[in-house]
Amino acid sequence: MINRNETPLHGLLTHIGSKGVQSLQERTLPYRELMSYYRCAMMEVETKFNVLNEELNLKYDRNPIESIKTRLKSPESILEKLNRKGLPLTLSSIEENLFDIAGVRVICSHPSDIYRLADALSAQDDIRVIERKDYIAHPKPNGYRSLHLIVEIPIFLHDQKRLMKVEVQFRTISMDWWASLEHKIRYKKDLPEMEFIEKELFECASISADLDRRMEELQRISSQIRDAEDAYFTAE
Ligand code: GTP
Ligand code: MG
Repeated sequence: MINRNETPLHGLLTHIGSKGVQSLQERTLPYRELMSYYRCAMMEVETKFNVLNEELNLKYDRNPIESIKTRLKSPESILEKLNRKGLPLTLSSIEENLFDIAGVRVICSHPSDIYRLADALSAQDDIRVIERKDYIAHPKPNGYRSLHLIVEIPIFLHDQKRLMKVEVQFRTISMDWWASLEHKIRYKKDLPEMEFIEKELFECASISADLDRRMEELQRISSQIRDAEDAYFTAE
């Protein structure tokens, strides 16, 4: 039988002591506060996309957004990135230098939906676009495609307004599928047939881009037929 009093966690807490836990909580409060501001900023951005999805759904009778994912960079990744870039390990250094603490990934049906949503977000008067990288028009040498925006968005707290940066990545389902598998495959870098793998991944990226073009064309034809039918029935 497990004696709860002898679990390692209990040992640790006894060792730190209740005062120690309190001081640990106090010392990490500014960090936890900053992370909570980033979470609020992600919520604001996610809501903006839900609003656009709702509106465009009414207009075009389909959802341009398949799904939205949000993620907050882990403390380990933040530390690793600050160290790698030789930046000070401070909270202001995080805010001033790392623009991908808050990440929102918007998975769209078609490439044209990506541009429509990105343009709509960028045009909103509380949004400031800091950076735009179009890896769809200009894919990375390995084949990676996606549209990246770094935006600044205000969050309203009980006694202040803060401007927070959020990285938004727009991908189609096929871009996202490729990127997540490429990430897993690339993880095992020391594979002997790296050249073959890189060539294959690039080839798969071109097939994925071709699929996006063909599916978008099918969507265009289907909308045209629907519009013609609507016009016919309205004329009757
Ligand atoms: P850092 O912001 O310093 O990481 O570099 P950067 O600004 O040059 O990065 P970039 O904007 O090009 O990419 C940032 C994010 O896009 C990464 O964290 C990944 O999520 C994604 N990404 C970029 N390139 C690739 C790629 O080749 N493969 C995959 N799977 N994801 C990528
Ligand atoms: Mg970046």
